Amino acid sequence: MRKISLALALSLGLVCPPLHAQKAKTKKAAPAAVQQKHTPTNPAQMKKFIDELMAKMTLEEKIGQLNLVSVGFTVTGPVVSENVDEKISKGLVGGVFNTFTPIAVRKLQEKALSQSRLKIPLIFGYDVIHGHRTIFPMPIGLAASWDLAAIERSARISADEASADGLNWVFSPMVDVARDPRWGRVSEGSGEDTWLTSQIAMAMVRGYQGTDLAAYNTVMACVKHFALYGAAEAGRDYNTTDMSDRRMLDEYLPPYKAALDAGAASVMSSFNDINGVPATGNKWLMTDLLRTKWGFDGFVVTDYTAINELIPHGMGKNEYEVAKVALDAGIDMDMVGEVFLNHLGQLVKDGKVTPAQIDVACRRILEGKYKLGLFEDPYRYANEQRAKETLLKKEYREAARDIARRTLVLLKNQNQALPLKKTASIALVGPLVKSQIDQLGNWNGAGDWKQAISVEQGIRNVAGPNVKITYAKGANIAADTLMLQRLNAHGGMLEIDPRTPQEMIREAVQVAQRAEVVVAVVGESQGMTGEASSRADITLPGHQLDLLKALKATGKPLVVVLMNGRPLALKWENDHADAILETWFAGTEGGNAIADVLFGNYNPSGKITATFPQAVGQVPIYYNHKATGRPYAGQLLDKYKSRYLDVPNEPLYPFGYGLSYTTFSYAAPTLSSKTLQAGGTVNVTVQVKNTGNLDGEEVVQLYVQDVVGSVTRPVKELKNFQKIFLKKGETKTVTFTLREEDLKFHDLNLNYVAEPGDFNVYVGTNSRDVQAASFTLVK
Ligand code: NOJ
Repeated sequence: MRKISLALALSLGLVCPPLHAQKAKTKKAAPAAVQQKHTPTNPAQMKKFIDELMAKMTLEEKIGQLNLVSVGFTVTGPVVSENVDEKISKGLVGGVFNTFTPIAVRKLQEKALSQSRLKIPLIFGYDVIHGHRTIFPMPIGLAASWDLAAIERSARISADEASADGLNWVFSPMVDVARDPRWGRVSEGSGEDTWLTSQIAMAMVRGYQGTDLAAYNTVMACVKHFALYGAAEAGRDYNTTDMSDRRMLDEYLPPYKAALDAGAASVMSSFNDINGVPATGNKWLMTDLLRTKWGFDGFVVTDYTAINELIPHGMGKNEYEVAKVALDAGIDMDMVGEVFLNHLGQLVKDGKVTPAQIDVACRRILEGKYKLGLFEDPYRYANEQRAKETLLKKEYREAARDIARRTLVLLKNQNQALPLKKTASIALVGPLVKSQIDQLGNWNGAGDWKQAISVEQGIRNVAGPNVKITYAKGANIAADTLMLQRLNAHGGMLEIDPRTPQEMIREAVQVAQRAEVVVAVVGESQGMTGEASSRADITLPGHQLDLLKALKATGKPLVVVLMNGRPLALKWENDHADAILETWFAGTEGGNAIADVLFGNYNPSGKITATFPQAVGQVPIYYNHKATGRPYAGQLLDKYKSRYLDVPNEPLYPFGYGLSYTTFSYAAPTLSSKTLQAGGTVNVTVQVKNTGNLDGEEVVQLYVQDVVGSVTRPVKELKNFQKIFLKKGETKTVTFTLREEDLKFHDLNLNYVAEPGDFNVYVGTNSRDVQAASFTLVK
């Protein structure tokens, strides 16, 4: 492997042009229908097959299966794999990632099948995170839909496209609970809540894997990053995590477990240190918990060069030493680092690791390939005809638009600033108005930014000819030139307007003055979130806030359309804008979906799943915190309370918050019983009425608080929700069922228990605006 910059990768031809531009000739693929036949996995037959295969394998070939190389179109780490063809021919590669298309995949697979001694097919992975060719909103946006069916559909479509494009393994879902918006990767996860992240994790695994991994249109999921990556100290990527066992078990680990219970067949180790032992070398995590306690029988791949990184972590002096640490911990596959490839042979010779350990890892990987049906048909996922019929097809673009609309969150709307009239004269202002690439967000896989719909285009498409649009850029996306250079070095494509900030704002103000309403499209560029993109300042970057202030001063209604991948600190914006629509990075159809909401073709129904702070100094700030012994309840002059001198304790927008163009009212919740008997249930019922003038959807949320416990318990925890549609004036009754299981947590001895006693139940439109009832658990 070799250290590489993007520029070098381009010059070496390692980053290739988009596939549709490639003309390589390969054998004509069989018609799609023929390749769709397959045999579902039979465990006994699988064992026999792999026993026989492994009996023929040399130690070197077994170690080869443990080697995952990166090759082709995309570079997703600091180094690239070298001499890949030669290694494949020698049987020294188990899998390949960062390449796709039936042509490219077939070429490498043919090499493995024609030139390696045992003709073991390769597995092909890729970062299909929120879509493959058709890009859906970033996961933080998908979560905000609170629509599990829509999320599952996005994963299903991603699987169909990825599998048509040569791939059979996706590095998703990312289920890291994250409570620090400085961390760039909050955009890749589902937010701060354990229960909701778990539900989403399961929905995504179902979408990717279906009920049969060997089917031609399903792919293997890889749950990541195991574990606790979302708790990186100070929100700085790759940083240490250190937390109590109870917090780990109750708050951070359940989503990984949920994904595995849903059948996720592979796991990716995380980069971070966990209480003193990095995940990739952590035997407690990878073996005691994952294998022994949770019974996981798939394979574990490291994150990119994570074994090598055990050296700077201080877990070994050299690669030889850390290869042993990782294998002993329970790692099966080495992503790009080639530490296993280069050192396991010697470690066996030296008697430091056993051949049996290598057999275990090799078997798990071969089983993964078997379950995918690769031994039956190594080309199952390389069907050009199916690729042509499937990728970015109309139905999938329509789904992307529909799903994206559900992810948008209306944060503010006063004086009915929204929806806009289709006859309005609109000043479209801001650095993101015309951006296509930013709609795709980070980790946009094989998405083609040229296919993405900008906000401007979406507005033109939806509003039709009677809307009058004028435009000014108003500000660059950032003022920090070094940051801009860094972003552009990694695919940012940010065009920098050479005018001064004052000149740009002046022009924008003139444009605003001539319009009826200003729509300012501001936020972050896609590269400002994602891996290695932490920000210490989470306000709008550059001069965008100055721009908003100048626009506000024109007296025109100001609608702020946000594009960003993390909760931002938006105090001024909330105080002064007339409307704020959070659109995240909404995907290929983003502009159309945003315009659907702006013009009222779709009534927004999204709710944030990560708390928006008033100021970055409040971070970490999350709804399900513990109470303190000196809670602050507004006693302004009381000194000895848990509070700040300079900012309030409350967030700007609480978890679960989001508005609609209509309004809903909630009756007080009622319970079917004042007691919950062990093994029994209590029903919580609430009537919700649409009190506004439009039909709309509402996310009815149920929270529970354990009032007194043997250990302190959070002030409330999400336990369920229902997203309901109400016609204007309509009332619906929503019923939730609570069981003892819903009340469990890890006690002093780390036993998973529900303790008898009083519980509060809260129901409402977000985690703050709730009404209470209570019951007693009797055992
Ligand atoms: C590093 C990232 O942490 C991980 O999420 C990704 O799947 C791998 N690189 C592969 O690109």
